[in-house]
Amino acid sequence: MSRISLNDGWKYEECFNESIIHRDFDDSTLEAVRLPHTCKELPLHYFNEEDYQFVCGYRKTFIPDQTWEGKSVRLTFDGVGHYAEVYLNGNKIGQHNTGYTAFTLDITKELSFGEENILAVLVDTRESINTPPFGFVVDYLTYGGIYREVYLDVTEKNYIADIFSRSIFEETIVDENKGKSILRSSLELNIDLKKRRYKIKQSLFDGEILVNREEKEVGSSNVEVFHMLSDIVLWSVDNPHRYKLVTELIYDGNVIDVRQEYIGIRKIEFKADGFYLNDRKVKIRGLNRHQSYPYVGYAMPESMQRLDAKILKEELGCNAVRTSHYPQSQFFIDECDRLGLLVFTEMPGWQHIGNEQWKQQAYKNVEEMVLQYRNHPSIILWGVRINESKDDDEFYKKTNEIAHALDDSRPTGGVRCHKKSSMFEDVYTYNDFVHSGANQGCDTKKKITSDMNKAYLVSEYNGHMYPTKSYDWEEHRMEHMLRHARVLDAIGKNEDIAGSFGWCMFDYNTHKDFGSGDKICYHGVMDMFRNPKSAAAVYAIQQEENTVLEISSSMDIGEHPASNRGATYILSNADSVRMYKNGRFIKEFFGKDSEYTNLKNAPIAIDDYIGDEIFSDERLTKKQAILVKDILNHAAINGFKMTPVLALKALWCMAAYRLTFADATDLFSKYVGNWGGSSTEYRFDAIKGGEVVKTVIKSPMKERKLNVEVSNTELSDGDTYDVAAVRITMRDEYGNILPFYNDPVVAAVTGGIELIGPRVFSLNGGMGGTYVKTTGLEDRGKLVIELPTGEKSEIDFKININKKRVL
Ligand code: GAL
Repeated sequence: MSRISLNDGWKYEECFNESIIHRDFDDSTLEAVRLPHTCKELPLHYFNEEDYQFVCGYRKTFIPDQTWEGKSVRLTFDGVGHYAEVYLNGNKIGQHNTGYTAFTLDITKELSFGEENILAVLVDTRESINTPPFGFVVDYLTYGGIYREVYLDVTEKNYIADIFSRSIFEETIVDENKGKSILRSSLELNIDLKKRRYKIKQSLFDGEILVNREEKEVGSSNVEVFHMLSDIVLWSVDNPHRYKLVTELIYDGNVIDVRQEYIGIRKIEFKADGFYLNDRKVKIRGLNRHQSYPYVGYAMPESMQRLDAKILKEELGCNAVRTSHYPQSQFFIDECDRLGLLVFTEMPGWQHIGNEQWKQQAYKNVEEMVLQYRNHPSIILWGVRINESKDDDEFYKKTNEIAHALDDSRPTGGVRCHKKSSMFEDVYTYNDFVHSGANQGCDTKKKITSDMNKAYLVSEYNGHMYPTKSYDWEEHRMEHMLRHARVLDAIGKNEDIAGSFGWCMFDYNTHKDFGSGDKICYHGVMDMFRNPKSAAAVYAIQQEENTVLEISSSMDIGEHPASNRGATYILSNADSVRMYKNGRFIKEFFGKDSEYTNLKNAPIAIDDYIGDEIFSDERLTKKQAILVKDILNHAAINGFKMTPVLALKALWCMAAYRLTFADATDLFSKYVGNWGGSSTEYRFDAIKGGEVVKTVIKSPMKERKLNVEVSNTELSDGDTYDVAAVRITMRDEYGNILPFYNDPVVAAVTGGIELIGPRVFSLNGGMGGTYVKTTGLEDRGKLVIELPTGEKSEIDFKININKKRVL
């Protein structure tokens, strides 16, 4: 099979004009676009979501290669939001409803050789169409356009139409890394059965090493191939080992079609007490991800899709992701396979169940989701209920049947927001928003599920319960962080909860009925540009690879009511953290000091600002020093708003130890207050294996530093454009974010890149970003980020152009 990309050289018009389907139409005045494409770029916030809803048109001309003659040619659209009608050479060749799954049209008969062929697509992006998720309200924008990739597959007339490979385990896995497994591969062949000379050869490779090969005579168009494997490296979260499966269709001794895919061999099970991967219990710890980006909505190419998976795994330390509320890019899921990120993917929909026609489409969506994604080892669960919809037994019995019939290897779930509902799924998946700050982190399984014998998974928490902006005041950002910690801790404590997915990975644009009025739901642990908020650290410290050390406060007490510092937390995955004040050692904090005992690493409250130096203060005996330290620590954290007990202790202390008011003031200013004095510097050293591995310094800022972090400076342009994500932050001289820096930034590009979004924008809460995309016209590019005050950062890009751009 050869795959030919059709992402380049499209023409676009916002208002579909029927004449674009015809050969004699002059498209030179239409806008030249490349895929993925959004039907309408939007501002970051404050816009009208009706702006992207219309019927638009895409047109592309191409000359079929002569070598395709006599072959089978199939055209695939990976994602068109939300209804597409496809025309080739003036004839309608197919249509597709729903923007979240791919569709393929056989164009063998419609192709015209030796001349230009005209491919045109009518795309309806309106939310009024009768298809999921539409029909009521939706808490996310649905955008529109040919927003994923398009390609042609060219094969012989007889070809491999589909392969579904999964692993069967007959014995308990003793070694969690290696095992014995049967690989079962079900093939669907498009062959002429009257000619009985077909054979299938299937080879499994570990890198370049052949592990097993099976050959089989073909007697029907459905073929099963079994590989008995021993000593096989299992795919897991920690070691996502993949094998290459090469399938050849042979006719009369000649290979007529070859398919190659990467598979992972792993055992998954949801049991009453949790989730098991390769017979080992794994607590699922994930976040929900929408597939949206600032300005261009859903339309981002491969590199950006992969980047989100990397951020989830490597920066946020998650072991799982839920693709709320629809199947997402194959590139994203492939990266999850590659990195070892467990995926819960679900049928498109949001709360609403429509009429019979709508339901028929929903069934089709389940079918397409399972068929298109079932070879991914990372996918562990199919969501076959419309997110947070009410019970509808007939409907959900059917969605479960469809998923189970097409995939005998995976369980189903279905996200609810109500308790004890009808259940046809294998796993009860529930959005638990019980935590509101001062109560329990989650409900118990028993209180929610309708079947204690089946697994129970929390599919969402937090989110709208506590919207948080990167520029909210410190205590708000800290409370957001703590709510994530409290829920994760509670989930950790409940051993019969398989795990959870927090709401959500990053802030997202939404409709008028939701969000903060500016069409953004500030529910993310990151902002829209994937800059981490305080809450992100709760996840980041669960991983081991990169040392994380964050302090929940800038240590500027004036940010707090009455200048009372309040609680401050250390978040780290190091062995311990040593705290120093103006160079003086105060205390070493260990994981066991955290009040959250069910997490590997959790926020630790700083309970000492005084240290042990007070014990050598000549004015105090040891007993007195203990009491004074207690009182001073209380003052350092809560100010002079003493509890009655502490106030009594203070009075008693002054009287009994004959401390004058001047002594007390002196002790206070020596150990706690320092107004007007030289700046207080807090230093935190993260210790691993006895070494300082990371240091954070908090001190009143003196200098500000523009920080520009680019996902990749080497881009590639060919089949289509490439994109680099640019995260921009304003920091102090020690690298701490300046959380109230909301000032403008000017971005300028030269060479082979252009900006996505505006040239002038603001940072929010000291953070923001932009994206640059390649034009395919030059192999070097430069981005300059400049502040009105003159600070500047320049980034050079190298662009590998591997195919001439079609204009
Ligand atoms: C849930 C819903 C999500 C999102 C979230 C916000 O009810 O499933 O899509 O809206 O609330 O917290």
